[in-house]
Amino acid sequence: MTKKHVALIFGGNSSEHDVSKRSAQNFYDAILATGKYRITVFAIAQNGYVLDPERSKRILALEDERPIVADYMTTVDQQDPLSRINALRAAGDFDIFFPVVHGNLGEDGTLQGLFKLLNKPYVGAPLRGHAVSFDKVLTKELLTVNNIRNTKYIVVDEKTAKTLTWAQVVKDLGDVVFVKAANQGSSVGVSRAKTADEFEAALTDSFQYDYKVLIEAAVKGPRELEVGVIGNEDPIVSEIGAHHVPNQGDGDAWYDYNNKFVDNSSVQFEIPANLPDAVTAEVKDMALKAYKVLDLRGEARMDFLLDENNVPYLGEPNTLPGFTNMSLFKRLWDYSDIDNVELVDKLIDYGFAEFEKNAQLSYEFVSLGEEKIGKFN
Ligand SMILES: Nc1ncnc2c1ncn2[C@@H]1O[C@H](COP(=O)(O)OP(=O)(O)O)[C@@H](O)[C@H]1O
Ligand SMILES: [Mg+2]
Repeated sequence: MTKKHVALIFGGNSSEHDVSKRSAQNFYDAILATGKYRITVFAIAQNGYVLDPERSKRILALEDERPIVADYMTTVDQQDPLSRINALRAAGDFDIFFPVVHGNLGEDGTLQGLFKLLNKPYVGAPLRGHAVSFDKVLTKELLTVNNIRNTKYIVVDEKTAKTLTWAQVVKDLGDVVFVKAANQGSSVGVSRAKTADEFEAALTDSFQYDYKVLIEAAVKGPRELEVGVIGNEDPIVSEIGAHHVPNQGDGDAWYDYNNKFVDNSSVQFEIPANLPDAVTAEVKDMALKAYKVLDLRGEARMDFLLDENNVPYLGEPNTLPGFTNMSLFKRLWDYSDIDNVELVDKLIDYGFAEFEKNAQLSYEFVSLGEEKIGKFN
């Protein structure tokens, strides 16, 4: 049997560019270990250019990226409108895309739009599942109408933010809030505010990243839970993991950019999380329900905030979860009897199945006929 050919794409222009390399290395090893696929890798440089497989492989091996990208750019014809994605030709006739680009481009639906245009199968959710899940406001509105518990919130744009007083925010949401740009990740554009001044500064920060901002009631002293979900129409959940930043909620600590990526030595992980059975069942149920409501496919990680009374709030979906050695999504499946090799094999199968299912859909329509076009009466 000839081996199916996987195009693994990693990197990207988000703050998670380097995280993506670590995730991609683990995915690469797991895909190879199935013995069923051959892999061509493509790095997306921080400037948005897709690099050729040979240079991409060196970047995946953690060679210094800057000179490699600079060297590639000398080969690029800047006049060519497709120059940013030209390198993809080098894959030849591959069978499926495996995107490992966190944040912008990979997690907002952009790459999935390209895959659809190229009519190729790919691993993970379609454009709309990613795009909706990447937007914190749209996500909360969908969760809310579907009765999936999430924290109380207010949405503002630059105009309505001007008329919203801190006193009103405290009245509606309580005296500690989180302010978030609607479309961001990695705790970028996210702040915790407990005074009028902090609130003003938080809004200014968030509006740098989006014209739509979410203000959310803070869950006091939360434990943060994460659960993996994989599958298409009949998804399954992993065991639940937890992490906690000391002084979270009581002091000013939270899972900010520094705790996530710079120095996570103070973050306490618990795998699997020690939870009452009823909470475990509720969290798994909420995760599956959210996966369906958000129209997700393939893989996702659902994050929760558990309050002091063990009430879970769905925090956010992550549609292209991290797969580094630290990542809970990776480690949780081992406790769920699906090892990493079986996991990637399933993810690829889900990608092919979803593509085949979509190929059955009709895109035909009844033509108006030439003589009617342009005549509306
Ligand atoms: N409502 C909240 N109450 C308490 N902590 C929160 C709340 N919202 C966010 N946080 C803290 O901020 C972190 C980042 O927020 P999150 O919504 O997950 O954004 P991101 O997409 O940047 O990860 C969370 O992991 C948590 O530590
Ligand atoms: Mg988060």
